Amino acid sequence: MRILVTGGLGYIGSHCCIALHQAGFTPVIYDNLSNSSRLVLDQLAKICGQHFDFIEADILDPSALSAALHHFQPEAVFHFAALKAVGESVQQPLRYYQNNVYGTVNLLQQMQQTGCHRLIFSSSATVYGDPQFLPLTEQHPIGATNPYGWSKVMSEQIMQDICCAQPSFLAIALRYFNPAGAHPSGLIGEDPKGIPNNLMPYVAQTAVGRRAKVQVFGNDYPTIDGTGVRDYIHVMDLAEGHVAAYQQLLQQQGFHAFNLGTGKGDSVLQLIAAFGEAAGKAIPYEFSARRPGDIAASYADATKARQQLGWQTRYNLRQMAADCWRWQTLYPNGLEPSNDKQ
Ligand code: NAD
Ligand code: WQD
Repeated sequence: MRILVTGGLGYIGSHCCIALHQAGFTPVIYDNLSNSSRLVLDQLAKICGQHFDFIEADILDPSALSAALHHFQPEAVFHFAALKAVGESVQQPLRYYQNNVYGTVNLLQQMQQTGCHRLIFSSSATVYGDPQFLPLTEQHPIGATNPYGWSKVMSEQIMQDICCAQPSFLAIALRYFNPAGAHPSGLIGEDPKGIPNNLMPYVAQTAVGRRAKVQVFGNDYPTIDGTGVRDYIHVMDLAEGHVAAYQQLLQQQGFHAFNLGTGKGDSVLQLIAAFGEAAGKAIPYEFSARRPGDIAASYADATKARQQLGWQTRYNLRQMAADCWRWQTLYPNGLEPSNDKQ
């Protein structure tokens, strides 16, 4: 029942370790700590009542991967390890392709060599590029608008190809919409290094006084209130979606893709209002120009996951804000005090 979790100390991977543990699996964490803290391990132990095995290593290192796969003999790999900042990927495309695409190739090679043939992959709604219709179904044309997005498109393609070449392989791409919130204990949550790129952590840091005000990027979109609309999904719902996907498709083979979202869009102003309610204070914000590359709206059609995985979300935006706020107030500077620098 061992699952190798690459990137398992990161935001989504760490929450997934809890969901795996709750479902009776034993996560083995593989992470190079490039965007996470070793302290997450202790937090996971507080929540789950046991310390998980941890390998500090890089997915770009074939011998470390091979050793981990040989030693732990996992029945599957849940692959979260990646770089994820869209703007940075435009500045440093090769770094993104190397880490995200070559890292995935490396992982697949080592899995093939050690006979581990089941992979759950962190994909993203970004593989739909600019939406041609909403809600987004899995049949929407695939594309991307930046190197980060292409790294996910390419990784999915590589998985499809290996499933063709080796029919015993199972690869499940889970296309996340906008992960938000934190574990309800408040012991782990999103802990970005430096200035957050994503909306909810930025709002949380504003609420706690680390940022002066939220810049709302554009108020002239054709949406309910002019601000961008996204499908925010609670990180524990997302984590449970991984376990459901694995349990349902365990006996299958080939490549499968699923949207993981709520199916409901909320605007930037609606998120700020929900957070203000959770925090019991008004969140200061001002309107500024649209952020280059942003789209007006994105939300999922999650019917396929509901029908084939028996999974659906349980939490709403208010609960995401409340859980994020609990985490933010318990750890206003994140787990690592050095995160406070910027
Ligand atoms: P995160 O940065 O918090 O977690 C990623 C983890 O992977 C970190 O702990 C990091 O140290 C580790 N890592 C990165 N490169 C590595 C390498 N070469 N070797 C070993 N470990 C490495 O990010 P997250 O938000 O938890 O995202 C997890 C996955 O989900 C990523 O693949 C990301 O692209 C995808 N995703 C995230 C979002 C989002 O908004 N957070 C949305 C869609 C998809
Ligand atoms: C949400 C909304 C912004 C910050 C990104 C990646 C995507 C995926 C998830 C990994 C938008 C607005 C934001 C701020 C704001 N990652 N906003 N002020 O852009 O939907 O998706 O993260 O796969 O690939 O592109 O998420 O949280 O950055 O923005 O007004 O300070 O909030 O314009 O409408 P996004 P986000």
